[in-house]
Amino acid sequence: MELSPVRESDYPELAVIANGGVRRDDRPVFLINWDSGSREEIARSIAQYQWSTRANFRVDEWTVEFTVRIDGRAVGVQGVSSKDFVRTRSVSTGSWLALHEQGKGYGTQMRRTIVTAFTDHFDAAAFHSEYFEGNDASRRVSEKLGYSPNGVKTTIAQDGLAHPEHHMILAASDIVRGPDPIQVAGAEVVRRFLGLDTV
Ligand SMILES: CC(C)(COP(=O)(O)OP(=O)(O)OC[C@H]1O[C@@H](n2cnc3c(N)ncnc32)[C@H](O)[C@@H]1OP(=O)(O)O)[C@@H](O)C(=O)NCCC(=O)NCCS
Repeated sequence: MELSPVRESDYPELAVIANGGVRRDDRPVFLINWDSGSREEIARSIAQYQWSTRANFRVDEWTVEFTVRIDGRAVGVQGVSSKDFVRTRSVSTGSWLALHEQGKGYGTQMRRTIVTAFTDHFDAAAFHSEYFEGNDASRRVSEKLGYSPNGVKTTIAQDGLAHPEHHMILAASDIVRGPDPIQVAGAEVVRRFLGLDTV
């Protein structure tokens, strides 16, 4: 598995694998209803969202999205975001996989990759994840990696309705690590980009 920051050249591939939606049923799993609608609407949502993360990147508030590839083919996206990371060392994650790539362990592997890399290379201390009630796959990924429940909030989901949103938290020291080593390229440049190293 390889994660690399989403490039514009990835957008068409991501639009193809998200076409038709990425949810097994109508149950809401996202805040924004980006995965419904026509092929064009989903493609536009992906592109606009990815552009927005670049346009709005600031050291004190950022989102970095990674294209997840298996043997070169795009299978989904793993996002990481933070506010005041230099001081809080705290990040949130969000992700999706193409429907036909779900349930194969990739969701666990990509989240594990991100929490391990951010701990070992970017000094993260805590990780946050949220899932709407009923999203058992997301809940299980968090549980398997060592997250603990951190409260429940009522939040408006992609269907415009209020749903219980479960918050999970993971201390870097509690990560359930996998057997395979994770390699990170370009960490020095990213550390400067995130404001961790000033020189
Ligand atoms: C959430 C998501 C990223 C998880 O990735 P995944 O590759 O499907 O999950 P994994 O194969 O790594 O499985 C993780 C665990 O969830 C369980 N699981 C997977 N799908 C499940 C389902 N529909 N119902 C119950 N459990 C499920 C697996 O059995 C596994 O647990 P186990 O090892 O104890 O058996 C993926 O399912 C997805 O993209 N879903 C739609 C979008 C979404 O919900 N994004 C997250 C928003 S918070």
